[in-house]
Amino acid sequence: MEPISRRTALALGGIGLVSATVGGVGLWRELAATGPAGTAGGTFRAPEELRSADGVLDVRLEVSRGLHDVAGRQATTLGYNGGVPGPTLRVRAGDTLRIELVNRLQEATNLHVHGLHVSPEGTADNVFLSVGPGTSQQYEYVLPADHPAGTFWYHPHLHGTVADQLFGGLYGAIVVDDPTQDLPVTRERTLVVSDLTLDGSGHVVAASAPERMMGREGDLVLVNGQLRPRLDATSGERELWRVVNACASRFLDLSLAGQDVRVVGRDGARLGRDSGLDGIVLTPGNRADLVVEPTEGRSELTAHPVDRGGPMGHMMGSDLLPGDGGPVAIADLVVGPGPTADLAPVPAAPAPRDLRDTEVSGRRTLTFRMGMGGMMAGGGGFTIDGRTFDPDRVDQQVRLGTVEEWTIRNDSPMDHPFHLHVWPMQVLAVGGSPVSEPLWLDVVNVPAGGAVTVRVPFEDFGGRTVYHCHVLDHEDLGMMGTVTAR
Ligand code: C2O
Ligand code: CU
Ligand code: CU
Repeated sequence: MEPISRRTALALGGIGLVSATVGGVGLWRELAATGPAGTAGGTFRAPEELRSADGVLDVRLEVSRGLHDVAGRQATTLGYNGGVPGPTLRVRAGDTLRIELVNRLQEATNLHVHGLHVSPEGTADNVFLSVGPGTSQQYEYVLPADHPAGTFWYHPHLHGTVADQLFGGLYGAIVVDDPTQDLPVTRERTLVVSDLTLDGSGHVVAASAPERMMGREGDLVLVNGQLRPRLDATSGERELWRVVNACASRFLDLSLAGQDVRVVGRDGARLGRDSGLDGIVLTPGNRADLVVEPTEGRSELTAHPVDRGGPMGHMMGSDLLPGDGGPVAIADLVVGPGPTADLAPVPAAPAPRDLRDTEVSGRRTLTFRMGMGGMMAGGGGFTIDGRTFDPDRVDQQVRLGTVEEWTIRNDSPMDHPFHLHVWPMQVLAVGGSPVSEPLWLDVVNVPAGGAVTVRVPFEDFGGRTVYHCHVLDHEDLGMMGTVTAR
């Protein structure tokens, strides 16, 4: 049985008090047995894959609420095409991706293709569209011929509902393949990591107001909707793992003890120089491509807690603070003996683009703040440059075809991962320390009280889109702005 998390223990403790007066231990046991946790340990299951052919991938994604196979049980969640996560969409640079989003919910939703370098206008990656209950929307994304190969993902993006809908089960991976750059591996796996909290009857537990302020973290951390699945491999093989942090707010500091793991890609880009897994934290929205060369034995893929601050800062111990739990084993890698596979070495990556010596045509500073007064009054205090999100306002106006340098400051006691749509960012400095290698991300953490500096080539696609904190509760509370490139 899974160790009971602190929050579950608190909830059960509360129930225990009540049950003491209505029949004592029996009821408590019953609740604990059907309990909020799921069943761990199934065989790893990959999401269904839908691949483009002849330059086109045409899919229908039906959004509905219903019984889904989640955490080893039947739970009532949201899902795309009846699955959690939704299908993995595989395309290539130059392809056209068409998605008919069919909304079978009682509420509006929409769709965002996170990290894809595509137009934010019309029926492409336009997060200002709303798809009403019972209606559908045809989206069409044309990937440029030089679109980077890598790992991306999709999720809803209707302001005010994003955290609830994503936490409820709406997310899926997108892989952009480049057959000329395929890595020599025995197998490839997509690991969509998400979290959620289920009640005893298998419904998703709604976040409380304090959890929204903190950024909700679910009791269960899932890989492809499974609780601690088992991945089987043999030594001598080589695997490529595409890890997506699809949690609404949880940061992932992963380790795979006893195994040889190299990070070869981050967000949508191959790294110029690969690195170890240590010290790489995936904020919500980030991806990492890992090359694993399995060593015989059993290893846990562990998510270590990350202290991302709290409304009162790092010092106040509270059960509500995120990252206060212990490490969680989210999957087991079981490696048997095997012959050495006949694989070519992983080729060196092409040198990534580097804008450090580029002339910039503009510099601007954006500042995250959390005002206590506004937070108490219902979240009005989650701002960028003192303002909460207004879809009709233009916050940043940039000239298409230019490179800008943006410094994102965080004058609050919590970390805020900064995400910009459409145009990837080269990270130049974090908290005053320069980044030595060219590092391209589409979500970059801005530490509490700190700052990051990025350079952004606003090119290829003009239009209006958004930037925001990817702790999705914060985004829903207003930590989002609009940018227009023309
Ligand atoms: Cu992952 Cu604006 O989104
Ligand atoms: Cu995005
Ligand atoms: Cu935030």
